Amino acid sequence: MLKKLVAANWKMYKVQIDVSDFFGKWNRLETPKEEIAFFPQDPLIPLAKSLLRPGEKVGGQNCSERKEGAFTGDTSPYLLKNVGCEYVLIGHSERRHVFGEKNEVMGPKLKNAMEAGLRPVYCVGEKLEEREAGKTIEVVFAQLEALNGLSATGYDIAYEPVWAIGTGKVAKPEDASLVHGKIKEWLEEKGLGEDARVLYGGSVKPDNATELLSSSGIDGLLVGGASLDPESFHKIATAV
Ligand code: PGA
Repeated sequence: MLKKLVAANWKMYKVQIDVSDFFGKWNRLETPKEEIAFFPQDPLIPLAKSLLRPGEKVGGQNCSERKEGAFTGDTSPYLLKNVGCEYVLIGHSERRHVFGEKNEVMGPKLKNAMEAGLRPVYCVGEKLEEREAGKTIEVVFAQLEALNGLSATGYDIAYEPVWAIGTGKVAKPEDASLVHGKIKEWLEEKGLGEDARVLYGGSVKPDNATELLSSSGIDGLLVGGASLDPESFHKIATAV
């Protein structure tokens, strides 16, 4: 089993000086025992990479399903790899619901990212109305279908209920555990994700990280807002 992964999704925040400030403080704090990965905006990746401590990783927040070509505004996973990324987020809820990326594009993105040598963190999660209609598992399983055809290893999953992202409403650890268990059953049935960690994301904060990280089936955390500040992210990363 791989170490737990605690990942910082910086979204569309921070400029160069903020990244230097962050690592100036972060690197004075004790190195967490969990695996740590940072996901800054693309142009900040080389700077972040240059400031990481040994063992800490950097990743992209999204990538193209194509290798290269006339695709203005897109980023190739081969470039992400070339500038030092080991990870890439695929299918983050903001890509799906703000930018309208369809589930059909996720399979090709996952495949292309893996061919480029990256380890995708594939994000899934239901909207509030889907949860209220009792459709959480159905929605998550439909999103997981994008993994079909991939090799058995080399990617992680992040379960991020859409209603919990950036809202301060965190899933109850027992509810998250239940979905994580179902995701693992699905993977096992399909012979997929043999080394996949299933991370939880959605309003993770220093005061709920311990309970989440020690709940059954939760193999790491994907942290948005609370990862922007080094002390707060460090509390989360060292919560167990
Ligand atoms: P949040 O974001 O921690 O701010 O809810 C999580 C995410 O979007 O990955």
